Amino acid sequence: MRQSKGVFLPPVLVAPRRRGDLYRALRLAVLDGVLSPGDRLPSTRQAASDYGVSRGLMEEVFGQLADERLFERVVGRGTYVSPELARLNIPANRLAQESPSSGKPSIRGAAVAANAACREPEAPVAFNAGIADTSQFPWKLWCRLQARAARELGPAALSFADPRGLPNLRTSIARYLGQFRGIHCRPNQVIIFNSTQQALTAIAVLLVNAGDVVWIEDPCYPGARAAFDLTGAKLGPVSIDEDGFNVKCAMRCAPQARLVYVTPPHQYPTGVALRMERRIELVEWAERSGSWILEDDYDGEFRYAGQPLTSIYSLSSRKCVLYLGTLNKSTFASLRLAYVVAPEDLIEPLANVRTQMDGFTPALTQMAMSLFMDDGHFSSHLRRMRAVYNGKRKMLLDELAPMRRLGWTWSDNPAGMHLLLRHKNGSYVREIAKASSLRLALLSSYRTEQARDNGLFLRFGALDPEALQAGVEQLLHDSRRATRK
Ligand SMILES: Cc1ncc(COP(=O)(O)O)c(C=O)c1O
Repeated sequence: MRQSKGVFLPPVLVAPRRRGDLYRALRLAVLDGVLSPGDRLPSTRQAASDYGVSRGLMEEVFGQLADERLFERVVGRGTYVSPELARLNIPANRLAQESPSSGKPSIRGAAVAANAACREPEAPVAFNAGIADTSQFPWKLWCRLQARAARELGPAALSFADPRGLPNLRTSIARYLGQFRGIHCRPNQVIIFNSTQQALTAIAVLLVNAGDVVWIEDPCYPGARAAFDLTGAKLGPVSIDEDGFNVKCAMRCAPQARLVYVTPPHQYPTGVALRMERRIELVEWAERSGSWILEDDYDGEFRYAGQPLTSIYSLSSRKCVLYLGTLNKSTFASLRLAYVVAPEDLIEPLANVRTQMDGFTPALTQMAMSLFMDDGHFSSHLRRMRAVYNGKRKMLLDELAPMRRLGWTWSDNPAGMHLLLRHKNGSYVREIAKASSLRLALLSSYRTEQARDNGLFLRFGALDPEALQAGVEQLLHDSRRATRK
């Protein structure tokens, strides 16, 4: 029996003046599983006060339920829902039975809900493990910083927070971007979101009208496609070649785009980098045509050779570029902190849109992250994780080398925590994905236009080296078997 102060009793909808009403309500609560076997009930004095009846009446009701063995009264300890009921399989778990709705989702809602591409698995598996590896995250330090954040904020942390983000974190991010990413901005240009996905949706709502053309990369990050779809934008898929987003092709096909979404340093999912000339072309086009550029630098921290690539943001006059970054990939997935750097006059409207989604991000997490950044722990962690992911990537490439002989190719851009394997024979690739016991995502599921070639998208970030090795061995085996067929 549970040693609690006593469960809350269920509300009785009719004024429970009569003994029968109370008796039936409590009996039903037990049979429906609202009260569970072993739950401790409040004292009859407390229950009588809660229901506004006399204590004598309450005694009678408890007594009757005890006579029926639904309640058990233990001298000196109180009244419990009879633990025996668990053995008799009562409650018959009416609540556990499926309860279908009588209405239907809207047409738009059904289409949005049918898109499961943005949903991540709860545990990383080969090769669906694009989230951060947390094995090296300084957990004890994080716990200390959480406590320090609570002390520094005080009970004010219990109230609403600024929907633009905590000023401390906005300052830490602006400083970090200036020092490590060559992105110079004022803290007032930074707005905090829970995720890139949330930021994309808020930006799409604020900047895009239904029917506006939005250039997206083809193949594209499904979260971006979903965000623009939601606003009723007309998607203009633009092909990706070895130099990244084909700007000339985009300008030829749909020069009037309102916004372009790009992932320049490490295109998602092909992995290629956007060539400098094309970044400049894109900026010139946007400034000329009054369009927006949305630059998603989702894994820019993880570049394994040379300097970080120059951002589109720093090449522009900064009036037409929104730069997105996430801390969820560089620290841990459940952190739920991402940010946008935007022209200052967009921050307030974006904060208003965000308020209508879920208000704000809790101040405590933001404060802990700000301390983590300001005290130098973030840059140490990034250094450590760069080595970890680079090691995994090298291991993956070494193990995959024999697949080149089977006609597979991949980008050699030394960045990130995923790799796209491409093959000219689309049906061969599909066959491997279908027959394999691995979780293999097809390149075709990221494409907007149909294409003959296909590929396998491997996300390895959170896999431990053993799982990575076993995954590659399995993949080699699967592709050799498909070749022999
Ligand atoms: C292109 C791209 N942008 C953004 C994100 C996710 O960032 P967040 O977890 O902050 O939504 C991902 C995650 O894989 C991504 O691939």
